[in-house]
Amino acid sequence: MTGPVIAIDGPAAAGKGTLARRLAATLGLPYLDTGLLYRAVGRRVLDAGGDPADPAGAAAAARALRPADLERTDLRGPVADAAAAAVASIPAVRAALLAFQRDFAVARGAVLDGRDIGTVIFPDATAKLFVTASLDARAGRRYAELAAKGGAVPLARVTEDMRARDAMDAARAAAPLRPAEDAVLLDTTALDPDAAFAAALALVEERLRPA
Ligand code: DC
Repeated sequence: MTGPVIAIDGPAAAGKGTLARRLAATLGLPYLDTGLLYRAVGRRVLDAGGDPADPAGAAAAARALRPADLERTDLRGPVADAAAAAVASIPAVRAALLAFQRDFAVARGAVLDGRDIGTVIFPDATAKLFVTASLDARAGRRYAELAAKGGAVPLARVTEDMRARDAMDAARAAAPLRPAEDAVLLDTTALDPDAAFAAALALVEERLRPA
């Protein structure tokens, strides 16, 4: 590895995407949103008329994934959310996506956000953050995002969907969501985006400093 690898894990809508993107820009590193990989695999399965919970079809879609699939504009929203969560619980899908994620960081290092970056993909990452926020805070943020886009999903529904996805991500046998033992926890419940970024940057810079 020729550059630092920064692993940012945590549940949905904890703010890790925004943080990871800003960290990458500030540190001059490439950025990969690994959730997009699972979303794009789910979409490929749906395109082929398959069931995202079918291991053979989902694994074939994962092996066929191309970087251009990550540019699709239909990777967000409830259908893509559900398809991504389903394919993400299939070990053969996770195995097929492992090399893609490791290769991404080979040339210059990278900032990657996801669920298992610090535990499975890069256990030796230079810095590991586990970004969390309360369920209510995360659902409130997701609700505000949807409302800004003109969506009319009730807050109670957003909260319940998020609770269900949290449970799926944490309970699955393949790479369940959990902090790496050496991850630093960052709770963004009471932090605005700038305060969360300042805290994250300070933690990462501490790890990047030569011992
Ligand atoms: O972060 P996200 O909401 O875009 O993730 C989409 C789904 O993929 C979600 O169910 C969690 C799963 N995922 C995963 O299992 N491992 C990752 N590294 C990233 C996402």
